[in-house]
Amino acid sequence: MSTRVRTAVLISGRGSNMASLLAAAASPAFPAEIVAVMSNVPDARGLDLARAAGVEAVAIDHRRFGRDRAAHEAALHAALEARGVRLVCLAGYMRLLTPFLVGAWEGRMLNIHPSLLPAFPGLHTHARALQAGVKIHGCTVHYVTEGMDEGPAIAQAAVPVLPDDTEEILGARVLAQEHVLYPLALRLAAGGAAAAPLASAALLNPDVRDLPGSGGGS
Ligand code: GRF
Repeated sequence: MSTRVRTAVLISGRGSNMASLLAAAASPAFPAEIVAVMSNVPDARGLDLARAAGVEAVAIDHRRFGRDRAAHEAALHAALEARGVRLVCLAGYMRLLTPFLVGAWEGRMLNIHPSLLPAFPGLHTHARALQAGVKIHGCTVHYVTEGMDEGPAIAQAAVPVLPDDTEEILGARVLAQEHVLYPLALRLAAGGAAAAPLASAALLNPDVRDLPGSGGGS
């Protein structure tokens, strides 16, 4: 029997991070097996990508539950349990979670966030990073806790912020790193890694070494 950790990915939209997780987990040597992709949005593009990859795609439309957030989460939780899921990866899952779901999956639910937490929790992270004038930006995979984007980090990757960056250009640079970081973090979590900032930006992202003043040149 496979000893890989049964994992589900939760999405609400395009699913590019989900696709990077599926690609990594396609290798039998990867410690997590993606057994289902679930979405609260029935026509999320990521569900089609999952089906095309031969992975079960499950839609649990939150609109069917009206304002009853708890009932929607109960349905989601039951669907995860029914599939023997042990780890959950949120990847662009655009629902605020209640303490019920967070508690039920404590230490077993990961999220990817497009900033170097604790900087810029919440939305519009790239615009806010530009506005703040930071020189380094990036992404974080962390365990999910009740505070939004506050859980312990598993891994982070950094990118430089360059003078002509727009929100879109910077966002694309970060997204490319997300696609590397999330599989790495899932590998660590599936292997039982304790929550800790394990990966420094410079190790993960060679771009950082090329920043002016970082010793890589003039
Ligand atoms: C990513 O930027 C992720 O960091 C954030 O939501 C976005 C999802 O994009 N949580 P995708 O659906 O994975 O392409």
